Amino acid sequence: MSEDAVVDELLAAVAASPDVVALRLRLVALLAERGRHAEALEHCTVALRHDPGNADAMAALQQVSSGLSASGGGFDWSAAEEQVSDLAEPAFVQDYQPTAVEEDVARPGVRLVDVGGMTEVKERLELALLGPMRNPEVAKAFGKNTRGGLLLYGPPGCGKTFIASAVAGELGARFYPVALSDVLDMWLGNSERNLKEIFDVARRSAPCVLFFDEIDAIGQKRSQLRHSGMRNVVNQLLAELDSAQDRNEGVFVLGATNHPWDVDTALRRPGRFDRMLLVLPPDPPARAAILRYHLRDRPLSGIDLDALARSTPEFSGADLAHLCESATERAMSDSINTGTVQPVTMGDFTTALREVKPSTGAWFATARNVATFANADGSYDDLVRYLKSRKR
Ligand SMILES: Nc1ncnc2c1ncn2[C@@H]1O[C@H](COP(=O)(O)OP(=O)(O)O)[C@@H](O)[C@H]1O
Ligand SMILES: [Mg+2]
Repeated sequence: MSEDAVVDELLAAVAASPDVVALRLRLVALLAERGRHAEALEHCTVALRHDPGNADAMAALQQVSSGLSASGGGFDWSAAEEQVSDLAEPAFVQDYQPTAVEEDVARPGVRLVDVGGMTEVKERLELALLGPMRNPEVAKAFGKNTRGGLLLYGPPGCGKTFIASAVAGELGARFYPVALSDVLDMWLGNSERNLKEIFDVARRSAPCVLFFDEIDAIGQKRSQLRHSGMRNVVNQLLAELDSAQDRNEGVFVLGATNHPWDVDTALRRPGRFDRMLLVLPPDPPARAAILRYHLRDRPLSGIDLDALARSTPEFSGADLAHLCESATERAMSDSINTGTVQPVTMGDFTTALREVKPSTGAWFATARNVATFANADGSYDDLVRYLKSRKR
């Protein structure tokens, strides 16, 4: 019997006994072995529909998905990482193409590959949001709805808005940022109706992502709101998130905030922003990417980006921008004094580093209290783990 004949036999057997999960998993394994990943995925999905908790099926699904990504069907983080660290070569600074990293959301076409480092955040996004959006069938097989929401939180200037714009880049037209100013205008006018309209449009274009930046401003604890009008906006938002039950299928909400503890807890219940994702200060590869961007069209000499990245722990994206400014100013003033263009050197950075300090400390001071006293439900487990690892 030829190899494909074996597959054919198994296909026939599965067609004859569609409910026998073990049989179907044999087929999945064989299809994966033959590189027929898409078919394997389909059968995996069916197997999981029959037996949602099946451990073998889950393991197979994982394997098949990674097979798919290797063959271009999904996103391969390790390759992206390589690309990023390739770019981290200092020589690159000279011929940097400003393809990606511009200012925040105003940067059109930013993709997750443009976000330096932050592998864990990317993986969580892939798992919780991008994967299900791309494969709604698989999500269904897991009994997971492609709705609900994810709240990005962390110190200011560390990439939440930037990461959200990268998610937008991944999803193209199916990403709707909801500006706070829109919501406030609505409040003055017909807030409830307009908020409902936003959600209706989103539902019509599902699957899609609605993005609320600085959600603490709209979703403040209602008790803190003296304006009853504003309270209505929050209530309407809750109602729209809840009309969830079936109508929000395929509508994913993404929020970002520096102050998750100021977000109305009602907004964090199941079906709303029920998962939290901590966006920490950039890790060394992220710092290298940020520094590279800010130095992209300046005269440089002997800049060791990796060394700079290593000597700037806890610096936010904004702090790094400040550091680059400061070092550049030094080189500029030297140039003016000597009358010749002096490139920015490591010496300029050493001096600048004496003045520019990371600004994330204040956030962590508050966060430590929250982690200590307000983590009964485990929402801040990631934060607790991080603080412990840093012995804060
Ligand atoms: N991982 C990263 N890779 C590249 N640039 C980053 C990264 N993280 C942050 N930045 C830069 O830092 C700046 C501040 O990030 P931002 O998303 O505005 O922070 P937040 O929304 O958390 O306050 C952005 O303009 C972005 O250029
Ligand atoms: Mg922001």
